[in-house]
Amino acid sequence: MDYLYAKEYLKSIGQSQLLKYYDELDEDERAQLLKDIERTDFGVLENIGAERAPLGKIEPIAPLGLEESARRREEFENKGLQLISEGKVAAVLLAGGQGTRLGFDKPKGMFNMGENKFLSIFELHIKDLCGVAEAAGRFCPLYIMTSETNNDDTVKFFKENAYFGYPEDKIHFFIQDVAPTCDFDGKVFLDEKHRVSLAPNGNGGWYKSLVSHGLDKVLKKEGAEWINVCGVDNVLQRICDPVFVGATVCGGYVSGTKIVRKERPDENVGLLCKVDGRPSVIEYYEMDDSLKNLSKDGKLVYCNGIILNYLFNISALDRAATEKFPYHLAVKKIAHVENGERIKPEAPCGYKFETLVVDMVAAMENCLPFEVSRKSEFAPVKNAVGNDSVDTARALLKENGFLL
Ligand code: UTP
Repeated sequence: MDYLYAKEYLKSIGQSQLLKYYDELDEDERAQLLKDIERTDFGVLENIGAERAPLGKIEPIAPLGLEESARRREEFENKGLQLISEGKVAAVLLAGGQGTRLGFDKPKGMFNMGENKFLSIFELHIKDLCGVAEAAGRFCPLYIMTSETNNDDTVKFFKENAYFGYPEDKIHFFIQDVAPTCDFDGKVFLDEKHRVSLAPNGNGGWYKSLVSHGLDKVLKKEGAEWINVCGVDNVLQRICDPVFVGATVCGGYVSGTKIVRKERPDENVGLLCKVDGRPSVIEYYEMDDSLKNLSKDGKLVYCNGIILNYLFNISALDRAATEKFPYHLAVKKIAHVENGERIKPEAPCGYKFETLVVDMVAAMENCLPFEVSRKSEFAPVKNAVGNDSVDTARALLKENGFLL
């Protein structure tokens, strides 16, 4: 793309501010800026102010509760271990996020959860996965999704730590796609005078990014039929949990999600329900009070609180891959150039555009809500202080016997 074309094009879509500093740039910087403009998907901006389709008929889905999974634990665990030992289960760790709430400028997985020793979030996950491998007699292939910003640090960290004892050839890194960020008026930000602000496009893009890196072929060549998709920030998360895998497969489902039981109507958690007969995740702000408060035998009827741990059948994902997943607007603090200076705002200043893995659930024929104990499997590190913070997660790790 040359300068004159870019100028006309940006003018026609109301984004001329991206060339504001063009005259100040040297040759290389100009080329970089034009390259960024060429690869920017300005189409995502149409999502600003777009009306969301109204929700259809909402119905609850009864979870497979703690009691039943304890009763059938052996059956589920044996099935899960068998599938893992046959190489049929792989995992994806979603580690492309920017962790702005935590305010840590390295990949979140590198964050130190230790107090008297260094114990990163990545190490916690990999050590847990090593335990599964020991029980099954086989290592699950692990695909780690990074972003353009954090990929080099992530890969280096794994190398420096000898992959935490996991076989190097079982770990594959891939970089997720990006989308532009903009202010509240839809004007795309400059990250630097010669760089368009492009941010990771949300955790829902993982399968598309995996496919665009050709890794779906590797996945299938390795024989995987099921894939466990997890976020990086739940430090008590069990990846490729044989009991969860076994329960989903024994129940004849094409997908499953780990859930913690919602205890209070005002708890802010996404809920797995049925919408127009299909599994769907409804955000807490989308659900009206009558459904939020509905209870039976002293328990909330809509109670499947999702914790970003899904199991998908890979053939079902391939069928769903043709669907277009919607972009959601996330209000965030975004570093950008203002009056010639790069600033890091203290308050949210614009939008990022994200696809979400929850939207993949709606593309599945069915989904098992598999209840896990909140105290032993849910310790998210989202914020620097307060709820879901480093302190709350450390306390839960200790309660579960971890030495920090
Ligand atoms: P969050 O929604 O908590 O976002 O991600 P975040 O970017 O990590 O943190 P904040 O909101 O800026 O504070 C949930 C999970 O999805 C991954 C994250 O790495 C985390 O495991 N994620 C999120 C991606 O892999 N890519 C993205 O673009 C966004």
